[in-house]
Amino acid sequence: MAALLARAHELDAAPSRGIVLPDGRNAFLVRVHGRITAFVNRCPHQRVPLNVPEGEFLEARGELIQCGMHGALFLPESGECVFGPCQGRSLEPVAISVDAEGNVYLASE
Ligand code: FES
Repeated sequence: MAALLARAHELDAAPSRGIVLPDGRNAFLVRVHGRITAFVNRCPHQRVPLNVPEGEFLEARGELIQCGMHGALFLPESGECVFGPCQGRSLEPVAISVDAEGNVYLASE
């Protein structure tokens, strides 16, 4: 059975949130323009969590994922870094599925 990660309405108040995957890795969900995607919470630059020191995963306009350490910006669709010291590298995506009730599951293999 697929693991339930979150419910879409939990992204109503804030469009991103940290989660813990069933294997114990820290990850996060973002919702940008209505689309939810998920990535492992590790910047490809120095392999630290992205949401330091402010606890946020998105830049102020809510369009791009941002690493708080040195300001790298990532596309929410693919995790590709488009600005900053790790430009051209990518966040590690987490495959998810969202059902009609808004339940966000870890996609099964
Ligand atoms: S650790 Fe993320 S940009 Fe440097």
